[in-house]
Amino acid sequence: MTGLRLGTLEVPTPVVLAPMAGITNAAYRRLCAEHGAGLYVCEMITSRGLVEGDETTKRMLVFDELETVRSVQLYGTDPTYVGQATKILCEEYGVAHVDLNFGCPVPKVTRKGGGGALPWKRNLLGRILEEAVAAAAPYDVPVTMKTRKGLDDDHLTYLDAGRIAQESGVAAIALHGRTVAQAYSGQADWDAIADLVAHVDIPVLGNGDIWEAADAVRMVEQTGAAGVVVGRGCLGRPWLFRDLAAAFADGGPGETTLPNLGEVRAMMRRHAELLCEHMGEERGCKEFRKHVTWYLKGFRAGGELRRSLGLVDSLAALDDLLAVLDPDEPFPASELGAPRGRQGAPRHKVVLPEGWLDDTDGLGEDGCGLLEDVSETTGG
Ligand SMILES: Cc1cc2nc3c(=O)[nH]c(=O)nc-3n(C[C@H](O)[C@H](O)[C@H](O)COP(=O)(O)O)c2cc1C
Repeated sequence: MTGLRLGTLEVPTPVVLAPMAGITNAAYRRLCAEHGAGLYVCEMITSRGLVEGDETTKRMLVFDELETVRSVQLYGTDPTYVGQATKILCEEYGVAHVDLNFGCPVPKVTRKGGGGALPWKRNLLGRILEEAVAAAAPYDVPVTMKTRKGLDDDHLTYLDAGRIAQESGVAAIALHGRTVAQAYSGQADWDAIADLVAHVDIPVLGNGDIWEAADAVRMVEQTGAAGVVVGRGCLGRPWLFRDLAAAFADGGPGETTLPNLGEVRAMMRRHAELLCEHMGEERGCKEFRKHVTWYLKGFRAGGELRRSLGLVDSLAALDDLLAVLDPDEPFPASELGAPRGRQGAPRHKVVLPEGWLDDTDGLGEDGCGLLEDVSETTGG
């Protein structure tokens, strides 16, 4: 299979790193790029935060010096802010791709009609997409959207969202095969991805439950998707991007990289080092802590060592702790194909603004959409 075309942007392999709040910062994107090829999307940032020059938002908009293709996910519920933010990204940050988040299931977000709740309001969705596409057009920057199947099984939105995206000039739509109510529980529905492929003419990117490169190839074969978006599968496994690139280049399931603990240890060190380069040593080490469990999943490393790594506060301390790990320990085969990262339970009820389901318009009398928060850092 060849690469992925998003408008004028050519991605050498049809693989996208899923935007993950708190994870896909400049350091992590660089680490993944050192292993493979693909499009590496920045953590979600809020449109209003960017437009108003919010400091937290600006701190998140950092790129690595080797990051030639800058890709950013925007969150927004107000067409005007989303349009302005898109323009700022293109003009001031030189981004080559803007993705819009319409999939976040976090109650704090859906309560305000954002993320995964928004596609219910078809007209508002269309307006937001049109504003973003119009703002990006002078820069030849493709806009994509990422969404879920719908609010719950009784309120599906993805087929309408696909049609609206296509009509609005969106370059591709990524579908996570779960509803908002499912959050991360159960299994992603790849049949829905196939349905969307059949429903629209723009490229569809399939997302959900790709744990190994072979899963990605299978998803594309089963659904006809133009590419895949990979999230939790690469947590603590940046080398997955190597396997993905190889599998798509060969057209087969490809080889599975099985790094021993010595090699994993080197990747942990590299990850921490990159975080420290970008954020300073103290914050970088703090950020690194959350990755320790993912890197060591299935390895024998004892509880005491894991606890100490989870409290690491300098690169020197990290080196001392990593030195204790047995470099020859083989990769734990039990981890292959196994889910990792968030899973959780389904929600009984999706939290929505009052009366949200009463109509599917969303623009209101002033045609302006919803008031938007400045900073929203919980993606999903
Ligand atoms: C920690 C974490 C943070 C996430 N943050 C975002 C986000 O900011 N924007 C978004 O569109 N999706 C976000 N997601 C969802 C992923 O992009 C992806 O759609 C989801 O994890 C399903 O793909 P997977 O099965 O490959 O993990 C997040 C997921 C996780 C686990």
